[in-house]
Amino acid sequence: MFNEINLDEIDLTESPPSEEPRRQYYFMAKCRELVRKKKEELGRPLSFCIETFGCQMNARDSEKLRGILEEIGYIKSDSESSDFVIYNTCTVRENANLRVYGRLGYLHALKKKNPHMMIGLCGCMMQEPEVVEKLKKSYRFVNLIFGTHNIYKLAELVTEALEQDGMIVDIWKDTDQIVENLPIDRKYPFKSGVNIMFGCNNFCSYCIVPYVRGRERSRLPEEILEEIRRLVDDGVKEIMLLGQNVNSYGRNLAQPLSFAELLEQAAGIDGLERIRFMTSHPKDLSEELIEVMSRYPKICPHLHLPVQSGSTEILRQMNRRYTKESYLALVDRIRASIPDISLTTDIIVGFPGETEEDFMETMDVVEKVRYDSAFTFIYSKRTGTPAAAMDNQIPEEVVKDRFDRLLARVQEIAREQSSRFEGRTMDVLVEAVNEQDSSLVTGRLANNLVVHFPGDASMIGTILPVHLDCCKGFYYIGSTV
Ligand code: SAH
Ligand code: SF4
Ligand code: F3S
Repeated sequence: MFNEINLDEIDLTESPPSEEPRRQYYFMAKCRELVRKKKEELGRPLSFCIETFGCQMNARDSEKLRGILEEIGYIKSDSESSDFVIYNTCTVRENANLRVYGRLGYLHALKKKNPHMMIGLCGCMMQEPEVVEKLKKSYRFVNLIFGTHNIYKLAELVTEALEQDGMIVDIWKDTDQIVENLPIDRKYPFKSGVNIMFGCNNFCSYCIVPYVRGRERSRLPEEILEEIRRLVDDGVKEIMLLGQNVNSYGRNLAQPLSFAELLEQAAGIDGLERIRFMTSHPKDLSEELIEVMSRYPKICPHLHLPVQSGSTEILRQMNRRYTKESYLALVDRIRASIPDISLTTDIIVGFPGETEEDFMETMDVVEKVRYDSAFTFIYSKRTGTPAAAMDNQIPEEVVKDRFDRLLARVQEIAREQSSRFEGRTMDVLVEAVNEQDSSLVTGRLANNLVVHFPGDASMIGTILPVHLDCCKGFYYIGSTV
């Protein structure tokens, strides 16, 4: 078992060790000295703020960045007028990128007012060479640019940035390394994500993730289980296992282990109350997984199973490697084993070559599966992906029209599906005091539906049986029993 390294015991007169994570602890100690000096100079502590865009992976990465910065002595803040602002970016769709450029203009104005301010950019968008070129050319005020493969190096990078002026750029094309045991600052005391793998090997033809997150790497099961045990010891009730395609977990380990086996071992951890996972690629979802899910009550009855399209021809063009029929058959098998399960999905509208008939196949899947909720996206052309080079891109008006029709139907069904638990009493993990009405608390059912019910802050982090009085569309109003 790894023992935390005490920064006070590190000898900074020695040269930095080469092995990780020791090297980073050395730089945390060194950086802490720099931050301490700066604090004395300014007569006030230094603050930091991290803005996270994109998915759960990025959210978890931001917790790691926060853990390191707090260890270094920066004080956490929500304000972008902090001394160190980091944007952890997403590039899955074009509009995610545009938002970042827009907000950088605003950060520049803040930086002019605070000459000590440092601006850092990291995450998926930084893995695109055109983006970094543009930043180098037109956004010289950015201090630090790093990517998805080297976030563990933050202490080393910040040390450099504090010691020299100008822009530091450190982007790796890919990595086969996984650095464990660095500090993490969790957003919630009672629930946490746990990475089980990094990267993606699927190359769906529209998707940029494999290019910016690199090849698939699975963490060792003993590292994952140990992390979960520690989280549970620290009060965590619910964990979410994270990977772009959790169903292909463990295939490349020296001693291969399936996702279902990992999940079962995690479910065996005492004190852990709930386990979820994201995301499941339909092509790799095994019978073994369905069987394990049906056997362990603490595995949440929820599957996020992105379909992307209902047309077998479009699915083929997307390189998804399943058909409409095989997807529907999979849904039937899941429902037969886990009757109450909530199914959610992602759908892309307007993929190149999508005809009205193809779109109607998607609508048909929506009718047949009846998702509890669905994220619907307008296809966005991502430079470097095979789909971006396809010549039959769909006109904007056509896509918009299909999108509106899909969204209306998806929401209608989601409302009907959500209300099916009305009148039942189910366990809720309380997450927060309600923002609008402080006499209520807000929590989630195991199937991920939100419930508001009378309560107070002392209930946060506990799991309570709640009577689901009334469904209000996508959430419930309940009462304690
Ligand atoms: N690994 C997950 C998804 C990661 S990206 C999976 O395989 O399901 C999250 C969602 O973004 C995808 O499911 C897809 O619906 C959407 N997405 C990805 N690339 C996109 C693009 N170019 N345009 C529109 N939506 C996209
Ligand atoms: Fe993208 Fe497909 Fe990988 Fe998901 S499985 S991240 S959609 S390439
Ligand atoms: Fe976005 Fe990267 Fe996640 S591109 S969706 S933040 S893996």
